[in-house]
Amino acid sequence: MPSTQLREITPAARLESVRYAIRDLACITDEVARQGHKILPLNIGDPLNFDFQTPAHMIEAVYQAMRDGKNGYSPSSGVKEALDSIRGEAARKGITSIQDVFVTSGVSETVDICLTALLNPGDNLLTPCPDYPLYSAVLAKIDIRLNTYYLNEEDGWQPDLDDIKKKITPRTRGIVLINPNNPTGSVCTRKMLDQIAELARQYNLIIFADEIYDKLIIDDTPHVAMAAVAPDVPVITFGGLSKNYLAPGWRIGWGIASGEASVIKPYLDGVNKLLRARLCANHPEQYAIKAALEGPQDHLVEVKRKLRSRRDLTMKWCSETSRVSCVAPRGAFYAYPRIDIPEGDDVFVIELIRQKHVTVVHGSGFGQRPGTKHFRIVFLPDEKTLTAAYTEIGDFMRERYP
Ligand SMILES: Cc1ncc(COP(=O)(O)O)c(C=O)c1O
Repeated sequence: MPSTQLREITPAARLESVRYAIRDLACITDEVARQGHKILPLNIGDPLNFDFQTPAHMIEAVYQAMRDGKNGYSPSSGVKEALDSIRGEAARKGITSIQDVFVTSGVSETVDICLTALLNPGDNLLTPCPDYPLYSAVLAKIDIRLNTYYLNEEDGWQPDLDDIKKKITPRTRGIVLINPNNPTGSVCTRKMLDQIAELARQYNLIIFADEIYDKLIIDDTPHVAMAAVAPDVPVITFGGLSKNYLAPGWRIGWGIASGEASVIKPYLDGVNKLLRARLCANHPEQYAIKAALEGPQDHLVEVKRKLRSRRDLTMKWCSETSRVSCVAPRGAFYAYPRIDIPEGDDVFVIELIRQKHVTVVHGSGFGQRPGTKHFRIVFLPDEKTLTAAYTEIGDFMRERYP
């Protein structure tokens, strides 16, 4: 029936539970910046905001691809040269039972496609708590209720295996493992990987192994890929150029599907349907994948040197500051200190931005055990900026919680 009055266009009700704390805080930060204050940004995991640069040979490869006319759509799974390179990288990591490889617009799209292709109404997927919030946002978007398992702070933020066992239901289809972890910076032990693989076998689960930070292990211990320890288990390993290769704006990620062919094949048909429906990932940027994975890796030495120094500075501040304690991060560029304060960590974070112009993200934005409070630090800024930010946070805490 035509209406004579314009009415509000409302969003889908399921979006009620879509949250993305990291970017949601940006509104308050913008407001403070508009008032003329200089912000000390410890909230967004983009190395390019700081003293890190995309390796020149990767930029050259993209430029060359554009000049060579690689500006149309690419095949939906990605260009052959990139797919071959990703397979080579997977083999170097000990992943043997590869069944498919595909390139996406960042790991963000890998997550979206892989979760959407798996879950029916009423199904659930185990996701970590604390969690990189994209997972719960995608689950909300497709109307799947959350089923989270705890990471255990007392055990260096390793997954809580007993909690995982308790949370598996007849409708649990898979488990997400973020390793190295965002927001805690923890790295899974080999024993933990074996135990999770065993559960996946027992309960017929697919594992989504988000290993986007796998080359950023600060202490140089080798990263062990989940798919390498469990060649028989269906695993999709997520990787990309955003973090290890300092090119987040190019939006290049990928998925490596491994496991028993007959088990994973029907699911991969579903994934490929969605890959075709969205046409393709950025085309010229895909030509940086070979340059990245097979070219010089020198930048990683410098990146890890900076991360080590900035992690150590962060840990020193945490150990010297009352009301703060922190498990030392071993990978990625995040620390997740626990805070003992008489108010919510969301209030802490908002007041910290307003009063001291330092942006961090509240633990409740990632999820945490009831009764605990945290905030996430991105320790990508240089030592001078970090020191200034930590001085401000320390002053803020002393003034607010005398
Ligand atoms: C654990 C994790 N997975 C996925 C992503 C998204 O990465 P991309 O830039 O490839 O979409 C991020 C980004 O911060 C992340 O921390």
